[in-house]
Amino acid sequence: MTLTLRYMTLQDVPQVVNIDRMAFELPWSERSYAYEVTESTYSYMVVLEAETPAPAARGWRRWLPLNGRSTGRRIVGYGGLWHIMSEAHISTIAVHPDYRGRGWGEILLAAMVRRAVALRAGFVALEVRVSNTKAQNLYHKYDFETVGTKPRYYRNNDEDAYDMRLPLTAANRQRFSQRFLALQTYHTFADLYTTHEPPRTQQPGRMA
Ligand SMILES: CC(C)(COP(=O)(O)OP(=O)(O)OC[C@H]1O[C@@H](n2cnc3c(N)ncnc32)[C@H](O)[C@@H]1OP(=O)(O)O)[C@@H](O)C(=O)NCCC(=O)NCCS
Repeated sequence: MTLTLRYMTLQDVPQVVNIDRMAFELPWSERSYAYEVTESTYSYMVVLEAETPAPAARGWRRWLPLNGRSTGRRIVGYGGLWHIMSEAHISTIAVHPDYRGRGWGEILLAAMVRRAVALRAGFVALEVRVSNTKAQNLYHKYDFETVGTKPRYYRNNDEDAYDMRLPLTAANRQRFSQRFLALQTYHTFADLYTTHEPPRTQQPGRMA
């Protein structure tokens, strides 16, 4: 399976919304995602795409044009980063339930932190439900610290949120850079996100 990190496009929104509905009790609307990728100038939305190679054909079928080509690409996870002043804010992150536990959420988080470093942000911030220990474990693994609690932050059940932050000090940037390279070596994903600027040219109303 080949993995690619790239900017989210308008055409990706239906697949992203599908994952979002499975992942969150308060999912975003299609309109919200469309806004993030077409209008917002401070948004850096990312998707992780998996490409499955076609099985090797046998006999006369190996001469068919599809042999060796991809059988399909699908979005297996996504994330959102807002850059406002010195803050890089992780607005969302989710992996499709069928693909969790493979280190792919870690790739998405690390990619957004790397984008924040490239944007010269001073720190990365996010909110997480106090009950969401899986996500908290992921953030702790990347040295995020809980700096406070936002009472009754989630409107569906009045659950509190932890305010978690990662200061992008020189030491943290250096350590993180090494970890990102190790992650890239382990998973061998293509990265068209952390090293590129977003396209910012997509037009709303042309969703596939
Ligand atoms: C949180 C989420 C993105 C993690 O994605 P994932 O691909 O399953 O996670 P990974 O396989 O990359 O795991 C990375 C780390 O996350 C933590 N983690 C992931 N799954 C976990 C589990 N079932 N139990 C405990 N910790 C877990 C661990 O620290 C793990 O590192 P480790 O493998 O070295 O122990 C995914 O569970 C998800 O989409 N959840 C629903 C949406 C959500 O809650 N988003 C966060 C909003 S704040």
